[in-house]
Amino acid sequence: MKKINPPKKSPELIADWQTLQRIFIRPENDAAHATLLKYMDQILFGLHDFLKKNVGITEEISLKELSDSCKDTTISKNPEKKLADVITDLVKNIAPHAVNVASPYFIGHMTSAIPFFMVHLKTIVAALNQNVVKLETSKVVSIVEKQVLAKIHRLIYNKSEHFYDIHVQNTCTSLGAFVEGGTTANLTALWVARNSALGPKNGFAGVEKEGLPAAYNAYGIERAVILVSRRGHYSLRKSGGVLGIGNQNIIPMNVDEQQKIDTTSLQKMIREIKQKNNIKIIALVGIAGTTETGTVDPLRKLGEICAENGIHFHVDAAWGGPVLMSDKYRNFLDGIELADSVTIDGHKQFYMTMGCGMVYFKDPTRMDAIAYHANYVNRPGSVDLGIKSLAGSREATSLILDSALKIMGTNGYALLLEHGIETAKQFAEEIKRRPCFELVTPPMLNILTYRVCPPKMQEELKKDDENIKNLINKKLNAINRTVQRVQRETGKSFVSRTTLNIGNMPEGNVVVLRCAIMNPMTDMKIINKILDEQEEIYRSRFADDL
Ligand SMILES: Cc1ncc(COP(=O)(O)O)c(C=O)c1O
Repeated sequence: MKKINPPKKSPELIADWQTLQRIFIRPENDAAHATLLKYMDQILFGLHDFLKKNVGITEEISLKELSDSCKDTTISKNPEKKLADVITDLVKNIAPHAVNVASPYFIGHMTSAIPFFMVHLKTIVAALNQNVVKLETSKVVSIVEKQVLAKIHRLIYNKSEHFYDIHVQNTCTSLGAFVEGGTTANLTALWVARNSALGPKNGFAGVEKEGLPAAYNAYGIERAVILVSRRGHYSLRKSGGVLGIGNQNIIPMNVDEQQKIDTTSLQKMIREIKQKNNIKIIALVGIAGTTETGTVDPLRKLGEICAENGIHFHVDAAWGGPVLMSDKYRNFLDGIELADSVTIDGHKQFYMTMGCGMVYFKDPTRMDAIAYHANYVNRPGSVDLGIKSLAGSREATSLILDSALKIMGTNGYALLLEHGIETAKQFAEEIKRRPCFELVTPPMLNILTYRVCPPKMQEELKKDDENIKNLINKKLNAINRTVQRVQRETGKSFVSRTTLNIGNMPEGNVVVLRCAIMNPMTDMKIINKILDEQEEIYRSRFADDL
């Protein structure tokens, strides 16, 4: 069995001033230059050797062994290794035990292969090490960031040329912000929504300044709520906690058979809340690409409901937002331009490296509700992007997105997105063809769920007997949990699993296998192999149920 090698100790290494200075300056001669280049080569290509191997957490080395080898909690006083040894360690010992998310057989999560050039772009951003919190540590990079924000804003809202002329480099307005991911993008949008809904009035200085108890008092309410479909991402509940309204006030709304928010019960709920007079609706969240099923809510209808009722409309398009670049499928997101705010993740379907989320606002003055200033930085009227952002110091991920957009063009991205959507459709057809499987949620975008459900059990489920149905579902849940686990542990392919309510089953009762197709190398040949393997696992372990 392979083990993580114990760290090599080099007792002769000492921390001295001369060496310290050397690591901060450019290589002083050709030999040092060549060595540093060799390391970059090792990172780019050495790392790729591991990508050819297993895709997931395998039995070959258990998590227990891995954690046992990472228990030393001391920091050595003297240097332990040279850069060359550290890189070798990472490439040879860590990378092979990481998860090969770049494999076309890894189709279980929203993390996938990235174009090769992303590593180069990330390296440039690291080398420049700009801090976009303020102009004094970023200069042109802050200006470029405002331009990229305007490009994506235009993709969503398609406002007039005049609008973008006014706002693209306007130091007083903000079309959006780069953040760490979908979670902070949602939080930022709902922070703005909360501060607007409970803003200053009649001697009350606003919730941001005076806090929630004073705000509830000033507005004569007992609760503030946010409405979202029950397929909403859990980051919305986190936002409820962080914003102080309480995560139980992120109210999950019913969904229809297609997993879209049920607008009839939504409207009923809004009416009931309004009648009570002591609850404020801070926002309604529509989802463009739900995490579990890839469903897009009826955004236009939701936008209209929000407009009628004076509610902030936020669209969580962390997953589906980039589909706006596909002329063929952008209609799925019809109505997104009605949103007051929109979340999009760069590290999902913009295929960027980790740590890029974005939040956009239709009205470029809305982010004023979360502006903060300090004496030494972020002074009023400056270009400092940190004025309206939850994060302080942060990386210039906007440079990566801007460059990627130039390299790919919307047509390049559209090819990727359309491949995902169309392959997911074929995948669903294949599941329908195979008697051993049942399609649970057909793909709207590129996510689908299904389960192993052999014909005999499918017949039993058709019977009008709740007890039998529950019994069969229990058995199927155990089968599908096992199939997913064994496939993951075998390490050749990876699909994820979740629990859904289907038909009239109680919520969370049906275990399903979940796939997100975003790797351009994932084709039907690979998908058939993944399904074959699942069938094989099922047959070998549960043959009696056939
Ligand atoms: C719809 C949706 N919103 C928000 C998030 C949170 O994004 P992140 O993990 O980048 O914080 C996710 C993540 O999967 C998501 O699918």
